[in-house]
Amino acid sequence: MKKELTIRYDVFANADELSDADRQLFDKAAEARTKAYAPYSDFLVGCALLLDNGETVTGSNQENAAYPSGLCAERSTIFWTHGNFPDQRILKMFVVGGPRDGKQDTAVPPCGACRQSILEYERLQSEDIEFFFGSPEGEIVRCGSIRDLVPFSFGAEFL
Ligand code: THU
Repeated sequence: MKKELTIRYDVFANADELSDADRQLFDKAAEARTKAYAPYSDFLVGCALLLDNGETVTGSNQENAAYPSGLCAERSTIFWTHGNFPDQRILKMFVVGGPRDGKQDTAVPPCGACRQSILEYERLQSEDIEFFFGSPEGEIVRCGSIRDLVPFSFGAEFL
């Protein structure tokens, strides 16, 4: 039996095509990107989360001389958020990534470990997280849920 999976997503040519509210969140993620600690990869990633109470939480990737000890922007931000606002739902998540010097026009998608971690919190809150990933000056992709980026996901139901 053959089956097929389809995902729906929106593509914006750049941040000017976003709504005003989404543009503000994109700008916060882009600002957070400038605070990344990424001396080893020179690849800077910023993240901004919008919470149910209207607050925005930002974060960035944090690297380490012992390379695997570093952490992506998405997980740095979402772990801190749930640690500090465990009762708040996350409505939107924006991620902006690209090299420190040089252009990145293609939207930078989250790594597999970050997708899995975001999915955990989306399931926990039983409400979709609108997920945007983009590049500093170019394309931005919007998914209605992180589920769209994690087909055949592993979850607590298997434990
Ligand atoms: N990085 C992120 O912050 N998020 C991702 O989803 C992919 C990669 C970071 C990790 C590392 O600091 C740098 O980008 C290069 O991999």
